[in-house]
Amino acid sequence: MEFGIKSGNPEKQRTACVIVGISETRRLSAAAKAVDDISNKYISNLIRRGDIEGKAGQMLLLHNVPGMIADRVLLIGCGRERDMNEREYRKVIAYSIRCLNQTGSMEAVSYLTDLNIKGRDYYWKIKQAVLVTGDTLYRFDELKTKKNVTRRPLRKIIFTVPTRRELPPGERAITEGQAIATGMKLTRDLANRPANICTPGYLAGQARQLVKLSDLIQVKVHDEAEMKKMGMHTLLSVARGTHEPAKLITIEYKGAKKNSKPIVLIGKGVTFDTGGISIKPALDMDEMKYDMCGAAAVLGTLYAVARLALPLHIVGIIPATENMPGGSATKPGDIITSLSGQTVEVLNTDAEGRLILCDALTYSERFNPEIVIDIATLTGACVIALGRHATGLLSNHNALARDLLNAGETSGDRAWQLPLWEEYQAQLKSPFADLANIGGRDAGTITAACFLSRFAGKFEWAHLDIAGTAWTSGKDKGATGRPVPLLMQYLLDKCS
Ligand code: BES
Ligand code: MN
Ligand code: ZN
Repeated sequence: MEFGIKSGNPEKQRTACVIVGISETRRLSAAAKAVDDISNKYISNLIRRGDIEGKAGQMLLLHNVPGMIADRVLLIGCGRERDMNEREYRKVIAYSIRCLNQTGSMEAVSYLTDLNIKGRDYYWKIKQAVLVTGDTLYRFDELKTKKNVTRRPLRKIIFTVPTRRELPPGERAITEGQAIATGMKLTRDLANRPANICTPGYLAGQARQLVKLSDLIQVKVHDEAEMKKMGMHTLLSVARGTHEPAKLITIEYKGAKKNSKPIVLIGKGVTFDTGGISIKPALDMDEMKYDMCGAAAVLGTLYAVARLALPLHIVGIIPATENMPGGSATKPGDIITSLSGQTVEVLNTDAEGRLILCDALTYSERFNPEIVIDIATLTGACVIALGRHATGLLSNHNALARDLLNAGETSGDRAWQLPLWEEYQAQLKSPFADLANIGGRDAGTITAACFLSRFAGKFEWAHLDIAGTAWTSGKDKGATGRPVPLLMQYLLDKCS
C-alpha cells in the first residue's frame, strides 16, 4: 500500500475515486459541498430523494458525477457531527477502505481527514488512517493453496490537508504510520503461523532477519546449554517436556548516544502452551499457538523502531519455548532455582509464562535498564477482568504506568491499570520454596504480576497482560498486532 498527501479541491482531483463525508442529518462536509456545487447539486438531489442521510456506515458510490474529473465519488455517512470521536473516525475509515477495495478503485483521494475530532490534528488523523487501512486490508492466506484474490485492489490513498502548512506533519504521519503498520503485520503474521512452523528456533531466525534492516541492530541467541550455564533454570523447567530446543533471543537496537541506559522490552514466547503436565482442556487449545504474541509484538516494535531510526537505545528479550507434557516434563510440586537465586515451587505447570519471564527479567539487569516492560499473554483471568478491549497494565512505578496509559489512549490501543498492592503478595506463599508459581483463583492477573514483581525490584518495570487483546477468537480468528501501536506511541513520546 502506498500513501500520499496533498492540498487541493475535490473537483480538481484526477483519480479513480474521491472520498467525501456526509454527516447526519443530511449535512455536507466542505468537500462534499464543493462536489455538490460543481455538479449542479447532484449530491443534494440524492440526499433529498433519500439515497443517503449521513448515518454512520452508509455509503454511496457514484460514477460520472458532472463537473468532476475523478472517475468516482464515494459518499460516506459519518453519523452525527457531535458524536464524531476517535472510535467513530476509525470505523468510517475502515468502511471506506473496504468499499474501495471491493469496487475496483485502485487509487483514491480522501477528504475524510477533514472530519472534526476534538483534540486531534491532521497528524493524528492521517496516522490513524494509515494504521486502520493496514488493519482493514490485512489477510493471512499464505497457507491456503487457493487465495481469494481481489482483481483490482486498492493500491494508493492520498490524504488531503487544507493548507500547505499541514504537509510536513502529514508526511511524518504517513512515515510513522507505515512503519507501525508494517511492524503490526510482522507481529500478526508471526502470531498466526501455527506452532509446527513458528517454533522457538523459527522466532530466533526471524529476530536474526532484523539485522538486515539496520546497522544499529545486533542479535544474539542463547541455546539451552548456555542458559543452563547462566542458571536460567525456571525458563528451562518449562522446556523439559518438549523436543523443541528453547532459545533466549536478545535484540539490541542502539540508536541513542553511547552509554545511555536502554528501554528493555521482554516478550513471552511460548510457541505452544498445552499447559504441560497440568494439561489444558481440548476446547480451543489451538489458540495457544498465540502464546507467543508478546514475543511477536517485541519483534514488530523493533522492526518499526529500526525503520524509523528512532534515537533510542532498546533491548528486546524473548524467552522462547514450547510448554508440553512429556516423560521428563516438570511436575507439580517440583522446586526450581531461578536465575535470581530465588526458589520457585511449580504448583501448576500451566502457569509457565511467569517462569520464563522471571529469568528474562533477571537477565535484563545486565543491560542496566532505564525501564523494563514485559508483554505477555499471561492469564486467562485478564480476559475475565477486562474482556478483549483493554490490555492489563501493572507496574511498580506510577509515572511509567501513566505514560503507557496515555500512549494507549493516543494510539487507540488502550490499557487499563490493575493494582499491584503488597496485600496480594501473600497469595504466593509456599511452605517449601521462596514462592509458589500460582496464587489461587482470586485476582489471577494481579498475582501473576506479583510473581513477576519479585524479579523486577531493581528497575522501573511495567507488565502488559495481552491475553484478551493479542488475538480475536471465533469465525474471524486472528492476531490483532496489539500492543504494537501502544508501544510505538510510548517510544515516539520518549523521542519528543
Ligand atoms: N497462556 C496462558 C494464559 C491464557 C489463557 C491466555 C487463555 C489467553 C487465553 C497461561 O500460560 C496460562 O495458562 N495461565 C493460567 C494460569 C493459572 C494456571 C494460574 C490461566 O490463566 O489459567
Ligand atoms: Mn499456561
Ligand atoms: Zn501460557
